[in-house]
Amino acid sequence: MAVRTNKNICLFCFGDLDANRVCKTCRKRADDTPCPPHHIPQRTVIQSRYLFGKALGEGGFGITYLGWDLTNGERVAIKEYFPSGYVTRVANNRVMINGAGQQAAANRGLKRFMDEARTLAKVKNLDGVVSIKNCFKDNGTAYIVMEYLSGGSLKKHLARKGGKIGFDETLTITRKIIESLGEVHKLGLVHRDISPDNIILERKGAKLIDFGAAKQSNLDGKSLSIVLKQGFAPEEQYRTHGEQVPWTDIYALAVTIYLCITGQMPPESIQRMYKDTMVRPSALGAKISVLQEGPLLKGMAVLGKNRYQNVEQFLKALYILDVRTSGVTASATRANVTLQTAAPSSREARKANPIDVVVKNADKKDKKREKELEKVKKKLEKEKAAAKTKK
Ligand SMILES: Nc1ncnc2c1ncn2[C@@H]1O[C@H](COP(=O)(O)OP(=O)(O)O)[C@@H](O)[C@H]1O
Ligand SMILES: [Mg+2]
Ligand SMILES: [Zn+2]
Repeated sequence: MAVRTNKNICLFCFGDLDANRVCKTCRKRADDTPCPPHHIPQRTVIQSRYLFGKALGEGGFGITYLGWDLTNGERVAIKEYFPSGYVTRVANNRVMINGAGQQAAANRGLKRFMDEARTLAKVKNLDGVVSIKNCFKDNGTAYIVMEYLSGGSLKKHLARKGGKIGFDETLTITRKIIESLGEVHKLGLVHRDISPDNIILERKGAKLIDFGAAKQSNLDGKSLSIVLKQGFAPEEQYRTHGEQVPWTDIYALAVTIYLCITGQMPPESIQRMYKDTMVRPSALGAKISVLQEGPLLKGMAVLGKNRYQNVEQFLKALYILDVRTSGVTASATRANVTLQTAAPSSREARKANPIDVVVKNADKKDKKREKELEKVKKKLEKEKAAAKTKK
């Protein structure tokens, strides 16, 4: 019998390949085509423990690979810190920072990447967040080993369904994510990149992947576009640096729900600061009750101070959870919830609508934020005016 090595293990199922490189278990032929030169080649083993398969995805800050844990035969996903444009793959899979000028920025990102993985690793067994199994430095960079999620993304699901799904289905998908996010926020960690492509639909429920601390570092402050997802990012993500606030995730979550039920993106948050042309989901034909549309719109309020300040509040309002029974009864899917065609029946719901919200007692921080906003507005207006006179 052939000795089992990294060369003859099936990367699809961890079974044995025969002499023709066909798997004895799943009958698939090994894919021995070479990978792009900046990827770690398939069948590489690092830490004497992780066998690399093909890359599953590649973003501006990292490459995610399929992998196998040789100690227990478990399928894993391995994310490698690889900030594109800052580093190069050299011999023996090592990652080199391109120039002395980029050293500090790349290292800052690396530290964030590791810190975040370590923090996230503390909250194992959350239903709505991918679990972290290990993280370590190697090859001059860092790696996060995660549980492998076999489902497709919410983005793909939406595309398959013609662009949108019902409100009830959406709420079922987002529920565990919102609940788990509460635990993550308690650790002082904010996701910053919630969107349908970072939500994986597993048979048991949906899970959030791709926490973005490394992205937040915005390495050298040059290209904001790569650290933001347009439409999902609230206005504060365009201007603040390193601020960790739960309501940033609430905005992106609410936009994700909005997109799911309407099939459309709302205008970009900074555009909404000037003139809010966002159309309510119900006006776009989404079947959503007044009681729930209010909270959804409040989650999407342009200014952070007008949103829910933590996900528990958002969850309770959006899912109409009964507070008296400690939040276990969701009436969200009850058939008798009033639909938008009826007049708003609840004062609460009207109050929750950001258009009607009058925020009293704004604290000092909010005032500071407002001032900051004014400055940004003025600056942008000046730029606009200058551009006009040039024409
Ligand atoms: N734990 C995982 N299990 C399975 N696939 C994953 C996992 N994590 C990431 N992926 C895949 O890799 C892709 C990229 O990973 P992600 O963490 O979103 O990084 P980025 O978007 O920054 O490239 C995802 O869209 C998904 O297809
Ligand atoms: Mg992603
Ligand atoms: Zn196989």
